[in-house]
Amino acid sequence: MEHNQASWNDSASAGYEPLLTEKNTTAVLTEDSALPDELTRDSLELPALSEPELARHYTRLSQMNYSIDTGPYPLGSCTMKFNPTFFEDIAARPEGSTHPDRHEETIQGTLQVYYELQDYLARIGGMDAVSLQPPAGAAGEFTGILVAKAYHERHGDSRSEVVIPASAHGTNFASAAMAGYDVVELPAAEDGRVDLAALREAVTEETAALMLTNPNTLGLFERDIETIAEIIHDAGGLLYYDGANLNALLGRARPGDMGFDIMHYNVHKTFATPHGGGGPGAGPVGVTEELAQYLPAPRIRKTDESSSDDEEIRYELFEPSHTIGKVHGAMGNWLVLLKAYSYISRLGDEGLRDASAKAVLNANYLGKLIDLDIPFGPYHHEFVASAGDHDAADFAKEMLDRGVHPPTTKWPEIVSEALMTEPTEAESKRDLDQLAAAFNSVQTSNDEQSEAPTTTAARYIDQTSAARNPRLSWHALEE
Ligand SMILES: Cc1ncc(COP(=O)(O)O)c(C=O)c1O
Repeated sequence: MEHNQASWNDSASAGYEPLLTEKNTTAVLTEDSALPDELTRDSLELPALSEPELARHYTRLSQMNYSIDTGPYPLGSCTMKFNPTFFEDIAARPEGSTHPDRHEETIQGTLQVYYELQDYLARIGGMDAVSLQPPAGAAGEFTGILVAKAYHERHGDSRSEVVIPASAHGTNFASAAMAGYDVVELPAAEDGRVDLAALREAVTEETAALMLTNPNTLGLFERDIETIAEIIHDAGGLLYYDGANLNALLGRARPGDMGFDIMHYNVHKTFATPHGGGGPGAGPVGVTEELAQYLPAPRIRKTDESSSDDEEIRYELFEPSHTIGKVHGAMGNWLVLLKAYSYISRLGDEGLRDASAKAVLNANYLGKLIDLDIPFGPYHHEFVASAGDHDAADFAKEMLDRGVHPPTTKWPEIVSEALMTEPTEAESKRDLDQLAAAFNSVQTSNDEQSEAPTTTAARYIDQTSAARNPRLSWHALEE
């Protein structure tokens, strides 16, 4: 008990919470077991803690975290919108626990949700066919580029390059490279958009695809999108839409209508599902009619009998004729997809239009309030401010000490000391005012010796070592 009392004080003062195994109260269990000897161990060392001790341990850990449930999270490009608990409740219902290997005849309701979600997403993106299988945006990119590759190869056209603007997300470069393509990097024009002259020069008969985000990572709409599409299509290439910024366009403009052939949807950015963080997420892929036959298998369709008016609608799985195969188990991450389905159905056409309007309004309101240079505009759902003489990473650490989550830093590089800021539609005017006050307070502070963050559980961490030498479990810490 004495030890635990001391550790409570530690955690209260310094944000430190000992591991359960560090609590000096290990019990050794040596119960006789009815299981065969070869399946049991002689003893099991477990921390002997009472329920309150355990509950407090995990509560303290949760309080060290900052989340969208704690306050605004204006991490540009990530679209950290609040996930309403209503959709969590739907996913938690017992009817939702469908085993992925159940026969399709016994999961008609599940298949109906999948089918309708395919249809919703196709309509939202202006695409003809959708696969729900990829488990994240990056996995959607990779899938989409594999679809492009299968298409070219089937036309006897083995192209070798994918063109990507320098300001694109790192996963675009990685997805193209993983699919076996050489990446051609496209510099931006002076206004921050695609440089048409540079694009014409970069696109050749080797170009398999151009990957584009619109609005781009500066929040700018690519006004020349029709010309861009023409340049790519005239060269026999395909136009890929990175759906990370779809939240800006919901219900207003559709990638398919702009000439895009393939796109992915980040449901955790646009449709209020939790961020995957490498865990269970979803990044469905939409394509035009001529690419539908290459999508991952299985997809879901209505059965032939369903076409007759008298029949109840039935759904079945099918394999597209030239499918690239599977990119994930089953039909994707069901419960994440169920949340996206529920969000879209609940908001409806009007609600989705309203979400994009408020996302753009909030970004513009916040941008007007902060005393930092925003070199490119007019911007939509996000803007990239410059921290000026401050180092953007230090600026972000100082914001943590003002109790708010900072924006994305140092990307895109076209803005020096970039602070890429995306408040999302979920924030109220009061929260935006507080966020702006935090920006402005850091901006006017001249504390060059700042040791921020001093109020968080982790101080100024060595990010390079953390990335290169990750210790992801308590075993690693023990070692
Ligand atoms: C512009 C852009 N593209 C692609 C991705 C990758 O998406 P995901 O995190 O779902 O893999 C991100 C993620 O932040 C992004 O911001």
